[in-house]
Amino acid sequence: MTDHTPTKVLVAVAWPYAQGSLHLGHIAGAYLPADIFARYRRSIGDDVLMVSGSDVHGTPITVKADEMGVTPAEIVDTFHPEFLSNWSDLAISWDLFTTTGTETHTRVVQDFFLTLLDNGHLYPHTTEQFFDEQEQRFLPDRYVEGTCPHCGYLEARGDQCDNCGKTLDPTDLIDPRSKLSGTTPVLKETEHYYWRLSAFNEPLLEWLDTREGWRPHVINFARGMVTEGLHDRAFTRDLEWGIPLPIDDLGPGKSIYVWWEAVMGYYSAPQEWAELRGTPDAWKEWWENPDAESFYFVGKDNIPFHAIYWPALILGHGGMNMPTNVPGNQYVTFGGAKASKSRGVGRALGWYIDRFQSDALRYAIAQSLPESNDTDLSDDEIVRRVNDELVATWGNLVNRVFAMTGRYFDGVVPEPGDLSEVDVKMLDGRQIALDEVAAQLDAVKLRGGIARAMQMAGDANAYLNELAPWTTAKTDIARTGTTLWVAHQLIAAAAVALAPYLPDSSVRVLAAHGIESPEPGPVWLLPEVVAGTTLQDLGPLFAKVELEPED
Ligand code: MF3
Ligand code: ZN
Repeated sequence: MTDHTPTKVLVAVAWPYAQGSLHLGHIAGAYLPADIFARYRRSIGDDVLMVSGSDVHGTPITVKADEMGVTPAEIVDTFHPEFLSNWSDLAISWDLFTTTGTETHTRVVQDFFLTLLDNGHLYPHTTEQFFDEQEQRFLPDRYVEGTCPHCGYLEARGDQCDNCGKTLDPTDLIDPRSKLSGTTPVLKETEHYYWRLSAFNEPLLEWLDTREGWRPHVINFARGMVTEGLHDRAFTRDLEWGIPLPIDDLGPGKSIYVWWEAVMGYYSAPQEWAELRGTPDAWKEWWENPDAESFYFVGKDNIPFHAIYWPALILGHGGMNMPTNVPGNQYVTFGGAKASKSRGVGRALGWYIDRFQSDALRYAIAQSLPESNDTDLSDDEIVRRVNDELVATWGNLVNRVFAMTGRYFDGVVPEPGDLSEVDVKMLDGRQIALDEVAAQLDAVKLRGGIARAMQMAGDANAYLNELAPWTTAKTDIARTGTTLWVAHQLIAAAAVALAPYLPDSSVRVLAAHGIESPEPGPVWLLPEVVAGTTLQDLGPLFAKVELEPED
């Protein structure tokens, strides 16, 4: 760790549409894993830039605004602040959480467009788009619903099928219907910029072949889609609510397609971050330095956009780093039903925030991350994880060691005597465990990491049960002192390993041992609890939760 050269790490996280409350599916799918990874990479000394923001454009916002009878801007002004308070409640440690509504974003996106145009990747093209004759409006994306041509799902939206995850154009849908009037739309000519995506099949496949350590479902999905063959796609839309084209040859009423523009946020947000700190070129270290790494944390729906389309945009632009990894997740279900903001399954996050400590919620979710399979998160399962695992294993370990140190040694960490074989084995096991947790985190196997870190707490409990310091206290108080001294070392080491997952309680445990954590969090090094330290009062680390029956 001391000879570690800091790596620039871009932690890029899906931009949530500012059109509804977040739910646990979003947290499990993107925000918590990103935060765990970012905190870990910072703790080993890397320079992490973790960015995202509210996705404020496109039909997801306008359809919702229509439904609620308000303007798109009002929708955004409701949900963006709600997201910010969710992040602070859950200790999601952004370097910048902005929106796609900033001047910087518009400038970067318009420049990006011009660069793609210059490089020959965009061309004007007259095409037919769905039009609602009753409403006299074009119907981009979510204004059309119908049957998915790939899987037959009846309620596919014009931009993507929620069932099979494939991206769609409205004209791909079978039996299309207008979301505005319910009528069957007609085709009408309109002019758009098209993206010569078909030219990227080969370069993308070549690049995907160079990727190592990607999750099998992500790489397989990406390879599969590219092997089937990407077709040219419209780059613009007949929609006012979005980023206008930097050239006006298509006439009024057009904007850049929300998805192509939103992913460019990964490029604009670091620029905004750099401007805000008064070092306007600093972002280049994350985007242009070939040694920088970039990790894109996204839920299952977002995998094609981050593993295929965004890389194709990067290639088309030139001079930018390709993604190191796209640790996309599978779905989270709630009692079997897929959580989906657009379909209203699963409760809003605030409900959980009102009932659980931040670290407790983070714990339960981290243990159920859908990294390789869909996982189910029920309220009962969350409560069980918190009470029977977090409180019973880690909370209990800390509380009983603190209580015994209080009872037998006036709350002062005792001096150890001669160390037995088992003491030495436990102490040696700390570095091994930290290394094993780190190996999991390096590979973005975050579930494996927390399981291994919790095993440290479980092993420490087993050690205490074997040595029974409460029994030796009656006959050999020195032995009790040694056992408790060892236990404090084990607890501090576990707190370091758990810190990316449970930042609040880990910092409190370390601080109670007289170990202050520098900003932004504990360092990934074996901590030493010094004998003679007066423990600070910690109180119960976690409270058991019991949900009211009427909940
Ligand atoms: N707004 C999209 C969603 O909620 C995600 C956009 S990710 C981005 O599914 F990279 F495109 F911004
Ligand atoms: Zn489908």
